[in-house]
Amino acid sequence: MSEIVINKFKCVRCGQCILACPARVYTRNSPLESTVLAKDGEERCIACNHCIAICPVNAISVNSLDSSDCDFFTDGVYPRLEHIISLVQMRRSIRTYSNVPVDDSQIEQLLNAVRWAPTAKNRLPVKWLIINGRKKVVELGGLVINWFRRLKGVDEMLDAWDLGLDPIFRGAPCVVAAYTTADSPWAAVDCSIAMQTFDYCAAAMRLGTCWAGYFINVAQKDMEINKWLGLSRDEEIYASLMLGNIGGEFYQKIPPRPEIKVKWIQ
Ligand SMILES: Cc1cc2nc3c(=O)[nH]c(=O)nc-3n(C[C@H](O)[C@H](O)[C@H](O)COP(=O)(O)O)c2cc1C
Repeated sequence: MSEIVINKFKCVRCGQCILACPARVYTRNSPLESTVLAKDGEERCIACNHCIAICPVNAISVNSLDSSDCDFFTDGVYPRLEHIISLVQMRRSIRTYSNVPVDDSQIEQLLNAVRWAPTAKNRLPVKWLIINGRKKVVELGGLVINWFRRLKGVDEMLDAWDLGLDPIFRGAPCVVAAYTTADSPWAAVDCSIAMQTFDYCAAAMRLGTCWAGYFINVAQKDMEINKWLGLSRDEEIYASLMLGNIGGEFYQKIPPRPEIKVKWIQ
């Protein structure tokens, strides 16, 4: 439910809001008339704010926001496809981190960017945990290892930990996790999209990252870890990355990958 106001004196009848709205909030009776709210439009609105971003004359406000609250694209242009493909190919899982801590301001810049990652029905359910500082990361890694100690067939991992290595977080000075309530309909997908968006932006900042799969897996089962993280019983971690300044893996080439498997149906 949103509060929507259409200024019919400003509306230039371009119909862009009608085309952009995924929830059919807007309509008009004829091309000559200004846009009006469709029946139950305000109830259906998912507050994606597409309408106020696309309206060329600032004729709509949604929950007191209007076009004047929308920034223009940076530099006014889309980035070039070659640059995006290069970023996808250059991002690597990094497992050698330097002792230099990640600046809070860099993490804040990354968190700011992921506000624009898509979520199902624009529900924006994703919340973030930043475990920053090697001391806390090692403490958390120890909890993950404790959970593994009760399993068979993980001796290699346990031996590595006992030798002072870090098979869980690979020596990273920071761990980032995305979580939400387990009853959120697209919890895993929304969190994963947000985290991969964070990941590509981190790569563009030349920071090192690696998905923390062992941690995600154990955190979903171990209430002690969730308690340590301050999560409530109904909240669950769905995505996590190690994060740090790169300490020794400096790639100049792209690792080869097999051809994609695809079926075209047309
Ligand atoms: C869901 C997921 C979980 C992962 N978990 C771990 C992990 O716990 N530890 C690790 O070192 N790498 C982990 N990785 C990194 C993969 O091993 C890595 O993405 C893969 O080998 C390809 O390398 P690249 O990321 O450099 O292209 C994980 C990757 C994904 C997508």
